[in-house]
Parts: sequence; C-alpha cells; structure tokens
Amino acid sequence: MGHPSGRSGLVSTALSMSEPIAPATLGDPLVKAFELFWHPVCTVDELLLAGSHPLAVRLLGRRIAVARVESGGLLAVADRCLHRSTRLSVGWVEGETIRCAYHGWRWAGDGRCVEIPSMPLGPIPERACIGSYDIEERYGLIWLRLDGRAGTGIPAHPAYDSVDEAPLKILQGVPYTWPVGAARRVENFVDLAHFAWVHDGSLGRRDEPVPPMPSVARESGELRFSFDPPDMEVDETALFGHSEHRMPMPLTVSIDFWLAGGARRHLWMTACPIDRATTRTFWTVARSDDRDGDDAPHMAFQARVLAEDAPVVCHQDPPEIHLEPGFELSVRTDRVSIEYRRWLSQMAAAATAGPSALHDLLRESRSSISLAP
Ligand code: FES
Ligand SMILES: [Fe+2]
Repeated sequence: MGHPSGRSGLVSTALSMSEPIAPATLGDPLVKAFELFWHPVCTVDELLLAGSHPLAVRLLGRRIAVARVESGGLLAVADRCLHRSTRLSVGWVEGETIRCAYHGWRWAGDGRCVEIPSMPLGPIPERACIGSYDIEERYGLIWLRLDGRAGTGIPAHPAYDSVDEAPLKILQGVPYTWPVGAARRVENFVDLAHFAWVHDGSLGRRDEPVPPMPSVARESGELRFSFDPPDMEVDETALFGHSEHRMPMPLTVSIDFWLAGGARRHLWMTACPIDRATTRTFWTVARSDDRDGDDAPHMAFQARVLAEDAPVVCHQDPPEIHLEPGFELSVRTDRVSIEYRRWLSQMAAAATAGPSALHDLLRESRSSISLAP
C-alpha cells in the first residue's frame, strides 16, 4: 500500500481500518496509481468453481473475498472478518451476503455487518464495517477497482467489443502467474528489441537485431503504435504481420495483426498486480481464419512464446519496475518502453497528488498526442 500514513498503522480514509496492509508495497507510488484502475482477479469460470464459497483473491497486496450472491450480482470485500480475523473466503454466500464461518457474522456487499448471531437483539456496532470494492464482470473475467475516485473504466477489448458481422473467434488462455511486477510483464509485450533475441525463429531473427522505430501516440488513455516484423518464415499459427498496438494504461496490451495472406488475428493481455513482485496474466487470442480448425496448435504457439519469455522476464532483479532516471539504462531503440515508463511516472506523480489529478491526466490524453522521436 502506498498510503503516506501507512507505517503509523493508519490507512487512507478511502479504505477500511480492517484492511490488511501489505508491508512490501508501502510507499510505492505506482501502487497508489494502480489502485485507481480496474484489474481482473479471476475468470468467471474460476468464481463458478468456488461454488457457494467466496473466492479468495489478491490484488495489490490485499486479500479480497469475491462472491456471486444469490441474485446473480457480485460483491468484493476485504477477506478478513473484523470480529476475530478469520478469512471470509472460508465462509459462504447467504442471500446477498457472506456469512463468516467462525461465529456467523454476516457481511453485505457494502462492507457493513448486517447480523451478529450471538446478539440477535443488537446493537450492531457502528464500527462493524470492512473494506468493499467496485466489482464488474466483463470479457469472461471478474474485475475489481480498489478506489473509484478517478473514474477509470475497464480497458477495451476490441475482439469482444467488435460489432463486425464476422467477429473473430476468441480463445481464452489459461491465466498464469509469474514472479515479476505487472508493469515489467506489460513492458515485455511491447519490447521490440527482444524479439530478435528471445524469439529467434518464432517471432524474430537474431541476424536482424535492429527494430523499427515506431511513432508512439497517446490517445484516449492508451499508448498506440504500429510495428512491422522482419521478413521471415514463421509457423502458420504465429501472430505475425503488420500489427497495430493499443495499450490501455496502465497494464493492458491489445494487438491487431494482419497476416500476409489477409487473415486477421488479435492478442490481448492484461496483467493483474497481485503484489509488487507477482503478476497474474489474463489473455486471449482471436483469429478470423481457420475458424473451424483445431485450436490446440494456436494455443501451443502461444505456449512456446511464453516459454521463451519466462526465463528472462521471471529473472529481472528487482522484479518491479523502478522509474527513477538512471536506475536502468535505456537506449533509443527502447522507444516504446521509454514512453510507457514516462506515462507510468506521470501517473504515479498524479496519483500521489490525488485521484482528480490522475483523472485529469487521463482526460488530457483523450485526443491524440504524438510523441516526437
Ligand atoms: S471471526 Fe468472523 S464471526 Fe467471529
Ligand atoms: Fe516476448
């Protein structure tokens, strides 16, 4: 947590006193910014598998209990009963509430305690209130927002949102968790100089190590650029060709590919910051071609690419991005990541100034801002 008063034992007024504090993230201004955005924490199917129990998830160092209540709605509350600190995810859903398994206190979606069985005549103490969070379902994922004061939205997913008559066939990848900070995970996706080295033969060629220098623009809260890969033979399941990249800030990447034969494919990922050094990546691939073909080879190609990335991305030390100038050495060909880091730094500073400053920063990018080479 990045609240200035964190070490004194107090937390921000936006958050409940019952919130567990993750010491490892105290003082990180990026964490403060990320709290103002939506992040996926599980798939809809994972929540379904939890049955009548809330699902325990972690986001930005907090333990949160997520549940689908009996009306079909969703709730997200701190995964800690304020009575004796048992995790609420051990309890179960009852009506529109979660019942704690230890002494049966019931908690509503707004974080208020609505029943204390040992005191049927009350009163329920005023203080009986835990943290509650914004929660939404979209793209087959469950999204949380810890702090809604900047008015951010869930990132776009062009393949899901498409109104084309022939929409792409979308495959949901199995989420994976890596020991790396979320911003590093995202940066790897748009790091054009690594293709020649890490993906030699699959997405790049080591004998062509100089990447193109795209122009990068800020538009509608996204960084955008296009990219043309080198000439090479690739697997027919590869996502390879002229590509248009959209990066809904701060932790999502959406890439449209036009293959040489005319087919269109799409890759989308969003990195959930579980804590400063742990990221769960949710992702989809989509295609216009081979719609009736076997999906397995397409997923196998993605598995190959991830296996190529993992050894380098999971061994970045420290695992989280540090934005201080001079901490790492960038060169001109790191252009996209330089712009990504520049915007992250501005977001961190804005979030430190307050949610309305972050809101204004995102609003400023509504019209396209081209960033000079
Ligand atoms: S610990 Fe939850 S009701 Fe006692
Ligand atoms: Fe990669």
